[in-house]
Amino acid sequence: MPEHTARYRETIWIIGASDGIGAALAREWAARGARLILSARGEAALTQLAGSLGPDHVALPLDVADCASMEAAVARISALGPLDRVVTMAALYDPGRVADLDAEKAAQIIAVNLTGSFHVARLAPRALRPGGQLALCGSVAGYVGLPQGQIYSATKAGVINLAESLRAELAGQVDVRLINPGFVDTRLTRRNSFSMPGLQTPEAAARKIIAGLNSRRFEIHFPRRLTWGLKLLRILPYRASLPLTRRLAH
Ligand SMILES: NC(=O)c1ccc[n+]([C@@H]2O[C@H](COP(=O)([O-])OP(=O)(O)OC[C@H]3O[C@@H](n4cnc5c(N)ncnc54)[C@H](OP(=O)(O)O)[C@@H]3O)[C@@H](O)[C@H]2O)c1
Repeated sequence: MPEHTARYRETIWIIGASDGIGAALAREWAARGARLILSARGEAALTQLAGSLGPDHVALPLDVADCASMEAAVARISALGPLDRVVTMAALYDPGRVADLDAEKAAQIIAVNLTGSFHVARLAPRALRPGGQLALCGSVAGYVGLPQGQIYSATKAGVINLAESLRAELAGQVDVRLINPGFVDTRLTRRNSFSMPGLQTPEAAARKIIAGLNSRRFEIHFPRRLTWGLKLLRILPYRASLPLTRRLAH
């Protein structure tokens, strides 16, 4: 990587890059002159995407839920040179009522969304340059407990909490950011049977995320008309908010 780095504005590692918002981020950042390291489980999709972006982008398959896989990836990346940003978008989604949850699927969602984010938080700073950026992806689903949203929403509440902790723990060393998207049209949300307010394309979401990461804001959240409403719900006293969320259960 060192002989290549001079040709690029920055080097960015995207985890969860093979599809959806992560892939749109890769395309947008490549168009803006970044060199990408692209990770997810699916090697074929990563290789295809890396090749379509240009000669120097790297496909690095891994499983974010597997500590050994993450350690091996970080060791490989560290040998290539320091990164400017690490962004993790990897997640699984399986909405439903608590009583209907499949225990094995629930454990896998926790392993990828929450434990995976911990692996990234613990290991990725080693690969960053001093002052480099680490962005974790939560969701507006993590703001407040809504019906039909478990176990995904609980993991995203955990990721929000993790990013807040990291922001304090790594202050002055790593520029920690939190991305909380509203609804984006990807394979993940295509499983929703309800109408999704403010649904955006992955490309529009990627542009908003990059603008936010280039600003000084800790939290990047969009679309504002959805996110501010949910933020308001979150700060209401329970006696006001719980009757509102209960209405959504029917
Ligand atoms: N779409 C939305 O409306 C929305 C809203 C709020 C937040 N978000 C968040 O935005 C992020 C991206 O979502 P998306 O909609 O773009 O989903 P997506 O299209 O399903 O993409 C998810 C990515 O994560 C990768 N991934 C899944 N499990 C992995 C694992 N164990 N290790 C490594 N990579 C893994 C997937 O690739 P492989 O399957 O090949 O591993 C894929 O590249 C997620 O964190 C999601 O929670 C999305």
